[in-house]
Amino acid sequence: MEQGGTRGSGKRRRKRLLLCVSVVVVIIAICAVVLGVTLAQGSDGLKNTFLERCQKFKGYNCEEVWDVFQKAYVNQDPCKVPTEAYDPLVASAPIEPSCNRAMFWSKTKDVVHDFTGKTDCFVTVEDSLLGSVLDGLTWCGKEGSSETLTTGCPDWNTCPDNPVGSFWKRISAAFADAACGNVTAMLNGSITEPFNSRSIFASIEVTRFKSPRMKNLNVVLVMDEKAGTNCTDESLNNLQKQLDEGIKYNCKEVPQSQIEECSSRPEKTCGSCWTKCLAFPQTSQRCEQILGRFEEAYVGQNSCDFPEKRYDQLFIENQFTHSCNKTMFWSDTNDLVHKFTERRDHFITLEDTLLGFIMDGLTWCGKKGSKETFIYQCEKCPVNTVSSFWIKASAEVRVGGNFTRLYCTINLSS
Ligand SMILES: *[C@@H]1O[C@H](CO)[C@@H](O)[C@H](O)[C@H]1NC(C)=O
Ligand SMILES: *[C@@H]1O[C@H](CO)[C@@H](O)[C@H](O)[C@H]1NC(C)=O
Ligand SMILES: *[C@@H]1O[C@H](CO)[C@@H](O)[C@H](O)[C@H]1NC(C)=O
Ligand SMILES: *[C@@H]1O[C@H](CO)[C@@H](O)[C@H](O)[C@H]1NC(C)=O
Ligand SMILES: *[C@@H]1O[C@H](CO)[C@@H](O)[C@H](O)[C@H]1NC(C)=O
Repeated sequence: MEQGGTRGSGKRRRKRLLLCVSVVVVIIAICAVVLGVTLAQGSDGLKNTFLERCQKFKGYNCEEVWDVFQKAYVNQDPCKVPTEAYDPLVASAPIEPSCNRAMFWSKTKDVVHDFTGKTDCFVTVEDSLLGSVLDGLTWCGKEGSSETLTTGCPDWNTCPDNPVGSFWKRISAAFADAACGNVTAMLNGSITEPFNSRSIFASIEVTRFKSPRMKNLNVVLVMDEKAGTNCTDESLNNLQKQLDEGIKYNCKEVPQSQIEECSSRPEKTCGSCWTKCLAFPQTSQRCEQILGRFEEAYVGQNSCDFPEKRYDQLFIENQFTHSCNKTMFWSDTNDLVHKFTERRDHFITLEDTLLGFIMDGLTWCGKKGSKETFIYQCEKCPVNTVSSFWIKASAEVRVGGNFTRLYCTINLSS
């Protein structure tokens, strides 16, 4: 028994030893795998991310783009990669011109991307193929090696000609070259110098804005509680001075909360959230309130047989008061406006009124039992959310004689 017991315990000891050995082997194996993966993530991880993101863009040979990319920095001193090193890369995936949609930013990255990520109104450099595949990544090479490293790379402060910094300078230049028409820039109103001469926006992008390809630069100065500056800021005056003659400049202060609000209502953003509302400088602080009042009129209601009086409150709060002699322009989008003007000897630019301007060309309706705004699936019927809005808007003008509401008339016969 005892012997057996001893043998038994000997067996147990051997078993325990075996168990220990296996555990150690397993641990070593795990360590090896983890280490291997970590090391491999250096270049393979970067390459995988690169290819994965690249494949979302149609019509490119991503492996080829990767090869061209690598040639810019592998086997180089990571402090001696100039912006020109990326010329072939930029040529292999050129930035497409984005007229009226280009959005530049400086010190507002998160707010801008939250916004552009949820809407189709604007594109940033990070929406281009190259900007998108390399956003947030770090890479470099080293002399005498064909490897791509992702750790121990010099950063923006170590040396100016580092692989990541030079890439962003080069791609930003290409993005600025492709900007045309109306260009928007979101700058940070909470810092002392919203237009900082050392930023990529100032040192690279603005210097490449050229008239007549580019028509306007619309600065959106993002304001929060800490906002220490405004559109009269000295640095913004410098920005204006640096612009090519022929590029019109304007600046709007927009609360950050409002931009976030716009992001959370992607279906409205392009047409009627801040981009349009803000075109009326006096009302930029009120866009949210207007939108709220506007929604109250139709959300949860049938879109047909929609009485115009539902808009009463909206028009009471947003009376037609504006200065005279504004350029008159008519849009072809609204027959009603034309019918209305044909019958009158005075011309009144409905679209020059805040509400007319915001709603021009848009379709909207609610649905019974829903808290949503619909912009596509609105029933077609003679008296609906949209037609009642325009009848109401026209009626506001028709009040005639009452010049508190009639903001401007131009007598064409004179
Ligand atoms: C503006 O800059 C400040 C300070 O760097 C930062 O805390 C804030 O988030 C920035 N604002 C925006 C809108 O990005
Ligand atoms: C560009 O902006 C100006 C003024 O902000 C505006 O009048 C014009 O309609 C805009 N053009 C386009 C194509 O968006
Ligand atoms: C803009 O900022 C300047 C300087 O801080 C200040 O004097 C001015 O009153 C501000 N203007 C507005 C409209 O807030
Ligand atoms: C509008 O134009 C007319 C004629 O050019 C001028 O007499 C009038 O003062 C202008 N009104 C405003 C508000 O500018
Ligand atoms: C003009 O507007 C005022 C205030 O909105 C109103 O009391 C008045 O009845 C209006 N006059 C006419 C002629 O409609």
